[in-house]
Amino acid sequence: MGYQEIYAASMADPEKFWMEAAEAIAWSKPPSKALFDRGDDLYEWYADGLTNGCYNAVDRHVADGRGDQVAIIHDSPITGSKSHLTYSELQTRVAALAGALVAQGVSKGDRVIIYMPMVPEALEAMLACARIGAVHSVVFGGFAANELAVRIDDCEPKAILAASCGLEPGRVIHYKPLLDGAIDMARHKPKVCLILQRDQERADLIPGRDLDWHAAQDGVTPAECVPVEGNHPAYILYTSGTTGAPKGVVRHTGGHLVALHWTMKNIYQCDPGDVFWAASDVGWVVGHSYICYAPLIHGNTTIVFEGKPVGTPDAGTFWRVISEHNVRSFFTAPTAIRAVKREDPKGLERQRYDLSCLRALYLAGERADPDTIEWAGDTLGVPVYDHWWQTETGYTIAGNPAGLEALPVKIGSPTVAMPGYDVQILDEAGHPQKPGELGAIAIKLPLPPGTLPTLWNATDRFRKSYLTHFPGYYETGDAGMIDADGYLYIMARTDDVINVAGHRLSTGAMEEILAAHPDVAECAVVGVSDALKGQAPLGLLCLTKGVNRAHGEITSECVKLVREKIGPVAAFKNALVVERLPKTRSGKILRATVVKIADNEPFKMPATIDDPAILDEIKNALQTIGYAKDKGSE
Ligand code: COA
Ligand code: AMP
Repeated sequence: MGYQEIYAASMADPEKFWMEAAEAIAWSKPPSKALFDRGDDLYEWYADGLTNGCYNAVDRHVADGRGDQVAIIHDSPITGSKSHLTYSELQTRVAALAGALVAQGVSKGDRVIIYMPMVPEALEAMLACARIGAVHSVVFGGFAANELAVRIDDCEPKAILAASCGLEPGRVIHYKPLLDGAIDMARHKPKVCLILQRDQERADLIPGRDLDWHAAQDGVTPAECVPVEGNHPAYILYTSGTTGAPKGVVRHTGGHLVALHWTMKNIYQCDPGDVFWAASDVGWVVGHSYICYAPLIHGNTTIVFEGKPVGTPDAGTFWRVISEHNVRSFFTAPTAIRAVKREDPKGLERQRYDLSCLRALYLAGERADPDTIEWAGDTLGVPVYDHWWQTETGYTIAGNPAGLEALPVKIGSPTVAMPGYDVQILDEAGHPQKPGELGAIAIKLPLPPGTLPTLWNATDRFRKSYLTHFPGYYETGDAGMIDADGYLYIMARTDDVINVAGHRLSTGAMEEILAAHPDVAECAVVGVSDALKGQAPLGLLCLTKGVNRAHGEITSECVKLVREKIGPVAAFKNALVVERLPKTRSGKILRATVVKIADNEPFKMPATIDDPAILDEIKNALQTIGYAKDKGSE
C-alpha cells in the first residue's frame, strides 16, 4: 500500500489501524482497544495494556538474538573518545542503574530528573527509569540553575541523575554547582542525587544526599522490567510556552512505543540493525524520540554525538561520523547545516568522506529555508526531507513517508500529514480554509498515539493552551496553509514562541526577567531573523522614569540577567533602550510589526495602532544596532 491508502486507512478506521500498529510492540498484556475517550476532549491510547519501555528498547532485542549488536555508539570529538555498547551490555548497565534507583527507594510513578550531557549514561538513565516505571524528566544542560529549579518544583523528583560536568567548545559546564544551586532554590528537595564523575571534572559530593553513580550500583540487585499501563507516563518534558512557566508535556508509554516504532521504517527508512543518527541533544524532544527511544525500540544502532557541527574539530565532523559509523539516515536541525555551510560553503570537507551509506537527510525543529535544503542536497547527493513536529507530538505531524513511498519533494513544504493526523487550516472563527489560504494550523481531535494526553499536573492549562481556541481541535501554535496536493506549509508561530538555533524559547519568559530589572519599566522581546540561528531574541526596553544611567550599562546587565536566569541557550545578546513601545489602542504590544521593521520586510500599518509615529522611532532606534536597514511600510 502507498501513502494515500495508509493515510486513508488511519482516518477511516483509527481503531483498526492503531491496533495493528500496536502488534509491533511487546506487551505483557495486550490492550483491549486502542482509543480511550476520557470525555471533554481528553483521550488516551492503549490505556489497559501492560508493557515496558525499557523491555521494548533493550531486553527484547537481547531475547531476540540481537545481544551482540551495537546499540549505542558514543562519538565525542570534544573529548576525543569513542565507544560502543552492545544491546547485552546496555541491558546489564541499565538493570544495574535501575537496581540502584530501587535501592534508593525509587519506584513506579516516582519522578526522576536527568541533567546530563551527551554521554551514553544519559540514555541509560532514561531507560533505567522506564525499566522500573519511574517517570523521567530530562533537563537540557544549557539551562541555568533557575530553570532547573522551576522543573524540580513542578515535577517533584525523588531522585536526580546528573553528571559532574558538560563540555562546550573551549569551556567546561560545571553541572554540579548548577545542580546544587537549583536544589537550594527549589522548594522541593530530592531524596538522592546520583552523580556521574567525568574525567574532565570531578564534583564534590554532598554527604547524605549525593552518591557516586557507580558506587551506588555496587552490590545492588539488578532490577527487572516492571510492566506499566499503556497510559502510564513514560516521561515529562518541559517546553516553552507563552509565559515564564514551562509546560510539562506528558508522554504516555503505550502510544509512545507504538508511534515511534512505526516511524523508523515508514519515515526514516531504517531496517532493524541499521545505524541511525539524530544530531540533537537528549534535552530536547528529538533527543528523547530519536537519540534514545525510537532507534532502540526498532532494534537500530543509535549515535550519541558529543560535539558541534563546526569547530569539533572542523566542518567535516558530521560527514566523518556518517562515513565512519555507516549511518543510513541522518537527522539534524537546519541551523546545524547552516553552520556547516557557512564554514565550508563549497562542501570541500564532504569530499574527504565516503558517504555512500547515507540514504537521506532529515531536517526538523525549525523552518528549513530553501538555500539550506538545496545546499545539503547538492553536497550530500541524497534526498533532503524536511518534516514538521513539536515537543507536544513527539514525532512527525507532517513529513515525507519515504520508507513507505517517497513523495515528490516540494521545497518549502515538510510534505504531507502522517497517519492519524487530521491537519486542517482554520480561520480565526474556526472555519476550514480553502487550499492555498493561510490560517492557523489545527489538528482535529483525537490526536494519534504518542502525542501529549495532557500537561503534568495542569490539565486546565492543557485545555487553555491547546483545546479552547478551536473547539474539537488541537491548536498547534503554527500558522500556514495546505496546497491543492495536500502539501503543508509552515509559515510562522501564532504565539510568542521563537526558535533560536532549533531551540524553542519563550519571549514571554525573557520579558518576565527583563521586567524584573529595577531600571526597566516595560519591555518586549521579539524574534528577529538571524542568518545562522533562524531567529535571535532582541529586547526592547523602556526605562523607569528618572533613570539616568548609560544605556549600554543597563542593556549589558539585562543580557547578563537572561543568561543567569534562563541560561546560555537563550542566546539573548541584543537589547535596546527605546522611548516607548508600539501598542494597539487596547495596550497590546505590536511585536509582529517590530519584527517586520527589524527584518526590513514590508508590513501593513496595524489598524488598531495607538500612535503610528512610534514606528519611525522604533525603526531609527533599530538602525543604531544594525537592524531595519531600509524603509519597509506599504
Ligand atoms: N550545555 C551548556 N551550554 C550550552 C549547551 C549545553 N548543552 N548547548 C548550547 N550551550 C550554550 C552554547 O555554548 C552557547 O554559549 P555562548 O553564548 O557562551 O556561546 C549558547 O548556549 C548558545 O548556544 P547555541 O544557540 O547552540 O549557539 P552556538 O553558537 O553555540 O552553536 C550551532 C550554534 C548552530 C552550531 C548550534 O546551535 C547547533 O548545533 N544547533 C543544532 C540545534 C539542534 O540540534 N537542535 C535540536 C532540535 S533538532
Ligand atoms: P519543538 O517543540 O522544540 O520541537 O518546536 C516546535 C516548533 O518548531 C513548531 O511548532 C514549529 O514552530 C517549529 N518547527 C519544527 N519543525 C519545523 C519545520 N519542519 N518547519 C517549520 N517549523 C518547524
